[in-house]
Amino acid sequence: MHGQLRVAIAGAGMVARVHADAVRRAGARLVGVSASTPERGKAAAAELGAERAYDTSEDLVVSDEVDIVHICTPNGLHHPLAELALRAGKHVVCEKPLATSAAQAAELTRLAAEQRVVAAVPFVYRYHPMAAEARARVRSGALGAVHLLHGHYLQDWLADPADSNWRVDPVVGGPSRAFADIGSHWCDLAEWITGHRITELVASTATVHGERSAAMSGTFSAPAAGGAGDRQAVTTEAVTTEDAAHLLFRTDRGATGSLLVSQVSPGRKNRLWLEVDAADASVTFDQENPETLLLGRRASTEVLSRDAALLAPDAARLSTVPPGHPLGYQDCFAAFVRDVHDAVRGGEVRHPGFADAARTAALTDAVLDSAHTRSWTEVPA
Ligand SMILES: NC(=O)c1ccc[n+]([C@@H]2O[C@H](COP(=O)([O-])OP(=O)(O)OC[C@H]3O[C@@H](n4cnc5c(N)ncnc54)[C@H](O)[C@@H]3O)[C@@H](O)[C@H]2O)c1
Repeated sequence: MHGQLRVAIAGAGMVARVHADAVRRAGARLVGVSASTPERGKAAAAELGAERAYDTSEDLVVSDEVDIVHICTPNGLHHPLAELALRAGKHVVCEKPLATSAAQAAELTRLAAEQRVVAAVPFVYRYHPMAAEARARVRSGALGAVHLLHGHYLQDWLADPADSNWRVDPVVGGPSRAFADIGSHWCDLAEWITGHRITELVASTATVHGERSAAMSGTFSAPAAGGAGDRQAVTTEAVTTEDAAHLLFRTDRGATGSLLVSQVSPGRKNRLWLEVDAADASVTFDQENPETLLLGRRASTEVLSRDAALLAPDAARLSTVPPGHPLGYQDCFAAFVRDVHDAVRGGEVRHPGFADAARTAALTDAVLDSAHTRSWTEVPA
């Protein structure tokens, strides 16, 4: 594909803004956006600097004016919109979770392969150079065999019962909330860094707040409660999706692990923490301090700082500003979109794809199953 790529974004919330910036940084045209209503679409086009607004997302994903469709809507719309876009022959970047069931995620993965288009999912934490460095070190065998994988992904934006969001509603967000929303990122990163696959798990889920405000107005970036002071009586609704999940798991290569995922942990904003304990060393990545990696050995523990000259090639390639000039979340998105555009132009496929997202959807189904049956559950390969 030659010339400037034409991108359109369905959805106009927090992550759509991040995508729009990344698309622009990759040198593509942002030809259109859509939102929940035509009026909101127009406002979003002005805010994001898109060339036009589409009245509906269904119009946008099949438009002849578009090469690559980004789906940044609430989760329940991912599958239908991605299916429409794929059938129209579009390259698709779909937000996680790719679908709200493993079966639907697998179906989209098959369809994308049949259509021979680029089908990407932004598991963007892979794009932190120090996460890539962790991968390179573990995969090189230099740390020895991996024995333990552990960590957590904690947020606090749903800590108050007055906090709510479309993610709480299983029809709009899907049957799993905390795990599908953020546990999926942790598991993707853990499997990507180690090359291990989680083959069985036991999960316990918790719905800390059995009722929440019925006003689904909050977003991840701006919680509805506005803090603990804002607790006036509002209509509440019963909650069925989980606020938190604890997991124990085993991998195909003999490691064991544990994970805690929560959206109700006060003071934790986006704490994705992952530690890999191998025979000779451990390596720890902390998403909120992504410019360093902790490398632990019995004799000494080092804090490695990002410096392209000292990093493995895959990590150095992502290290786009000099050492001491912090890289962040938005930079990861920019690098991800650059990789997607390279693939669209026929280059190497480096980005996380639908198969990776189908994998996390299978894990999500297993988590819900295990929590329901209170037993160890196999994760289909
Ligand atoms: N990869 C990541 O790091 C990451 C980060 C945040 C969110 N996400 C994913 O992105 C998606 C959106 O999350 P968000 O945080 O931006 O949510 P958000 O609530 O901020 O935004 C969602 C937007 O979708 C709009 N919308 C509703 N129906 C629509 C429709 N039919 N067509 C177009 N737009 C519609 C809403 O008006 C809202 O503006 C979710 O699936 C979420 O899991 C991924």
